[in-house]
Amino acid sequence: SIIRDEVEHIEGASNAQLSAIDGIAKEFDLTVEKLREIIKYFCNEMDKGLEKTGMNVAMIPSFVTGAPTGKEVGTFLALDLGGTNLRVCEFTFEGEGVVKSKQHKYRITEAQRTGSGRQLFDFIADCVDKFLAEFVTDYSENTKIFKMGFTFSFPVEQTAINKGTLIKWTKGFTCSDSENKDVVFMLQEALNRKGVPAVVSALVNDTVGTLLSHSYKDPKTFIGIIYGTGTNGAYYENISKIKKLNKIPDASGKMIINVEWGAFDSEKKIIPITMFDNKLDRESNNPHSQIFEKMISGMYLGEIARNIILHLIDRRLLFDGYSSKDLNRNYSFETEYMSVIEADGSHTLDDTKKVLEESLNIPSTTLTDRQIVKRVCQIVGLRAARLSSTTLAAVIIHCGVVECGVSVGIDGTLFELYPHFSARLETALRELFGTNFDKVKISLARDGSGVGAALAAMLATE
Ligand code: GLC
Repeated sequence: SIIRDEVEHIEGASNAQLSAIDGIAKEFDLTVEKLREIIKYFCNEMDKGLEKTGMNVAMIPSFVTGAPTGKEVGTFLALDLGGTNLRVCEFTFEGEGVVKSKQHKYRITEAQRTGSGRQLFDFIADCVDKFLAEFVTDYSENTKIFKMGFTFSFPVEQTAINKGTLIKWTKGFTCSDSENKDVVFMLQEALNRKGVPAVVSALVNDTVGTLLSHSYKDPKTFIGIIYGTGTNGAYYENISKIKKLNKIPDASGKMIINVEWGAFDSEKKIIPITMFDNKLDRESNNPHSQIFEKMISGMYLGEIARNIILHLIDRRLLFDGYSSKDLNRNYSFETEYMSVIEADGSHTLDDTKKVLEESLNIPSTTLTDRQIVKRVCQIVGLRAARLSSTTLAAVIIHCGVVECGVSVGIDGTLFELYPHFSARLETALRELFGTNFDKVKISLARDGSGVGAALAAMLATE
């Protein structure tokens, strides 16, 4: 079959509708042979990134060389910025793997995402101040300086554990005056302006944080991944293989590399790309960047599906040719709606009807319409999961670890909540690795990046 999983019958569809859907499914299809080709290409991109800075797949050294043992003790603050929320946390490690935490989420507004860098960092400092005042009992200024780990989930060229310049914003952030600047410096300045007694001792990517926190629990952990608003991965690399490092700390050890695989194939050379992806890319605020991420992550899946739906409407193959004001608005078809629709098991697709008629104000839909929309979501969701297998498989192959068994910690709403995502990903990995896949242990590492930042702060100040 063209769609490789649960294909449901579309009742009462015309030949024109069926053949349009079939054509789209074909464009989004990824055979195992194609996956292998992509993996091979990506392995080469990884090698290039390890050799030189500024490559498309950036392969950023994190300067985290140790792994936590579970015996750590101490109290650290952590900040987590990278998607819809800012999380402020306090972690107390009590040894024997015990961690106590307090945390609070603050929503990032569109204005903060697109204003100036200084405004964004002032907002962050404000949140830390509020958090300390509200949740941390021994917060009396002047008596204690908090050590803080900062999870900043954007591509940063790191030069030390607590230094790194922002290469490029991703995921809809566009704050001015911040690219090419040191993000730890900007945060520290904002904390100082506000008089918050905290020093930023470690800067980590969310994937690095996820990897650290998961290896705190499972020492076999080799890879940390995010499938959420964006997508990316981090893994332990032999330092001797990181050719671009000038001063090699201890060439015999390992260092975590932040792959930044969201940028993979930004030249559009290897992954089959459709007109729906190209439209999304062209209209995005970072055209020609993060192409891999734009086919996979939660920020974009709904928009790809919306593009397909509009295309079918324009050909009068859906909703009798009628759209709605809401559906015509960019990003109005949220990935969360896709989750609802993919999970809709009722005969008459009642939840799908609600999304289309109540949330998006399509005047009326037939069962055939709703089945077509569900199929569109499946096509987009399935490609995302299958494509996700490629970079994960490539890292496993690159490290030659499959035979000895490897644990992978994964966080992100797409992995956690999107129906069938993890099962489809595992199916693709099994097609690629065969029975060897039994040696790969994939688990959810929920909210790992915050603890990870605190652990990095601890490893940095030990
Ligand atoms: C984007 C960022 C990357 C982050 C990922 C997941 O790809 O560039 O740094 O790890 O999103 O949040």
